[in-house]
Amino acid sequence: MNTLKQYWNDVYREFGFHPDRESWLVRYMDDLSQPEGIIVDLGCGLGNNALYLLDHGLPVVACDVAEEALKQLQAYKPDLVTQCFDMRNGLPFDNRSAKVVIVDLSLHYFDEPTTFDILAELHRVLREDGLLVGRVNAIQDMPNKQDIQAAVERHFYEHEGIYRRFFDRQDITHFLNAVKWSLEVVEEHDLVRYGSRKVLWEFAARKRS
Ligand SMILES: C[S@@+](CC[C@H](N)C(=O)[O-])C[C@H]1O[C@@H](n2cnc3c(N)ncnc32)[C@H](O)[C@@H]1O
Repeated sequence: MNTLKQYWNDVYREFGFHPDRESWLVRYMDDLSQPEGIIVDLGCGLGNNALYLLDHGLPVVACDVAEEALKQLQAYKPDLVTQCFDMRNGLPFDNRSAKVVIVDLSLHYFDEPTTFDILAELHRVLREDGLLVGRVNAIQDMPNKQDIQAAVERHFYEHEGIYRRFFDRQDITHFLNAVKWSLEVVEEHDLVRYGSRKVLWEFAARKRS
């Protein structure tokens, strides 16, 4: 049984459609509007980023493991291209086919080897000067110690049935290491999301050949 898939389908079934258009991608418009290559929104959920890009005339492939999210998104925006797959099994895109891949709050659910495997796939599908942009949980956003199981790896915890990593700066540079990636943005942000405070890291990493 794929518990992660089931967890997210249940979340989207319970909460219904409530996309929240965000503008954090505006600073990446130069890359997003390059003529060559696709834009992949990986772990798109209800399409906050995909819908923002479509509003700006930028076609995007919205991908998620949760068919429930994609069903709701397609009902709202039938012309949006979606793909349902589990990123742990690889990405169904050709080598060097993407100009930008977005991983917004979708890359912090995996143990270290799996995270490196996914990043290797992202590296494969990005074109030579392609950009990976994302946001991940910050360590400051960790739930109270009493609500959380002991770490199974550095900064990686089980909470309410799923695993999550809470990154510090060192974790970002560990995963997006300088051999494969050139880090152009690493910033910690404090924002309000769905009515509660959230601390996260935003990053932009350019593929090195
Ligand atoms: C916190 S939500 C973020 C959704 C959206 N990116 C946003 O920022 O609003 C995490 C998303 O990652 C997706 N996800 C988690 N694990 C995944 C996997 N293994 N493969 C594909 N998508 C996954 C979930 O289904 C969920 O939609």
